[in-house]
Amino acid sequence: MLPGALESLREVADLYSQPDLLGFRSEPIERVPEPMPTSNPSALLELAMMAAEAFGHQPPDYERQAWACNALEHLRSLQQVIGMIEDLPTTMAFLTAAYWQAQAAFADGAWEFPSEITEHDGRAVTVREWCKTLPSGARLLDAGCGKGRYLLQILTERSDLQLVGVDLAQEALDQLPGSVEGRSGHLLKLPAVTAEFDAVLCVEALEHALLPRQATAELCRSVRPGGSILIIDKDRRYQAHSQSQPWEAWFSVQDFQELLGPACDQVTCARVRHQSACRKRLFLTATAIRGAADS
Ligand SMILES: C[S@@+](CC[C@H](N)C(=O)[O-])C[C@H]1O[C@@H](n2cnc3c(N)ncnc32)[C@H](O)[C@@H]1O
Repeated sequence: MLPGALESLREVADLYSQPDLLGFRSEPIERVPEPMPTSNPSALLELAMMAAEAFGHQPPDYERQAWACNALEHLRSLQQVIGMIEDLPTTMAFLTAAYWQAQAAFADGAWEFPSEITEHDGRAVTVREWCKTLPSGARLLDAGCGKGRYLLQILTERSDLQLVGVDLAQEALDQLPGSVEGRSGHLLKLPAVTAEFDAVLCVEALEHALLPRQATAELCRSVRPGGSILIIDKDRRYQAHSQSQPWEAWFSVQDFQELLGPACDQVTCARVRHQSACRKRLFLTATAIRGAADS
């Protein structure tokens, strides 16, 4: 076994043993919760990718998907998940199964991700205005880019920028505009060198991450000191009245300030509408400037 692999796996198993991170929100929301928790596919995929990396191998190929779904059901029925660290083969089988179950969920559901956004949408306006502040030739990362609908808009106005999109759904990456570099990866460990980018964008992806704090730290790590970060996600004030998955983390202004504050000098939040005719400003935007490297 690789040095440190067991420790890494132990960390992964510890996360598994916290059901609130996988299936429930850690803070109660003001509505009746789902009767049964369902697994957060993003979280499962993040965990399985971390475990695969810890062991220095990639999960097996697509032929094993059906096996993976069956194995996962079987392992769940044995209810060995929390104690499984003592049984390494079972743990690896579980994580491999989880990987393929989550990948299959994304493959099935990727068509639902929107591939376009109207230019009047408040989120699109915010992204375009933010892009105007970026220097010529800037390197921009869109973390959790989906099919790249914002990257597409950025391209039309700022073809000088070097664009990279990261997502854990390969089906989404396959549909990125041709000049965008797609990287397969997840928010807890972005496939980016420290300070690689001048600007980092993250729209409606943080809400799915297993650990939003760690994911935000990764956004900050990927941008150079003095570089710019823009996060857009849903405003927690509306969550109780909306349909959302039980694990989704919606945010408040204070959340964004706390998440970005440790690494950033300035954090500015605003509320925007997603449709011009919609009265409520469902989305919160947070713009921040990365502080000095050691902050
Ligand atoms: C609601 S879609 C938003 C996509 C895109 N940002 C947009 O607004 O069109 C959420 C995206 O985040 C990706 N995602 C969710 N959790 C992720 C994670 N932990 N790491 C990387 N991508 C993630 C999903 O695969 C999906 O493409």
